[in-house]
Amino acid sequence: MKRAVYPGSFDPVTFGHLDIIKRSAKLVDELVVAVLQNNKKNPLFSVEERVKILQEVTKDIENVRIESFSGLSIEFARKCEAGFLVRGLRAITDFDYELQMAQTNRVLAPDVDTIFLTTSLEYAYLSSSTVKEVAYYGGDISEFVPEPALRAINRKLQYKEKRQ
Ligand code: PNS
Repeated sequence: MKRAVYPGSFDPVTFGHLDIIKRSAKLVDELVVAVLQNNKKNPLFSVEERVKILQEVTKDIENVRIESFSGLSIEFARKCEAGFLVRGLRAITDFDYELQMAQTNRVLAPDVDTIFLTTSLEYAYLSSSTVKEVAYYGGDISEFVPEPALRAINRKLQYKEKRQ
């Protein structure tokens, strides 16, 4: 079975991530979207919330499952018996870090290849951080994230507002 792992923070999932998920799912028998648990970035959503949103967003894609992981992505890929790691490239600014990560991972696990998909042009500017910032200041993010993520962000921000 050809299996790939697509690791990331997904805090929250954007249309850019969904584009990579849909396209990479077509290349393999099974795609495991792996949500990083021990995220140093102080995420807006807990790992359980991120997994739940992703499950809703991908419920119609048969060969996709959502998991959480901690530690190294490459170790998680091995644990899943995946032959590939998937990463999206938006712009040249992503390239340095992604190349470094792919090459390090290749030394750690020569049997796992990183596949890069270039993000579709209409989503090339998108990032979870900018989406959160726009939402935080009350901007409309419906063009940036799928409906379940939109609802979750609105709920989360309302909850935070109430607590302040
Ligand atoms: O969505 P992101 O934040 O760009 O994803 C980055 C991620 C989760 C893929 C990366 O930080 C990662 O793999 N973290 C787990 C630890 C690890 O494997 N680091 C890379 C060592 S080369």
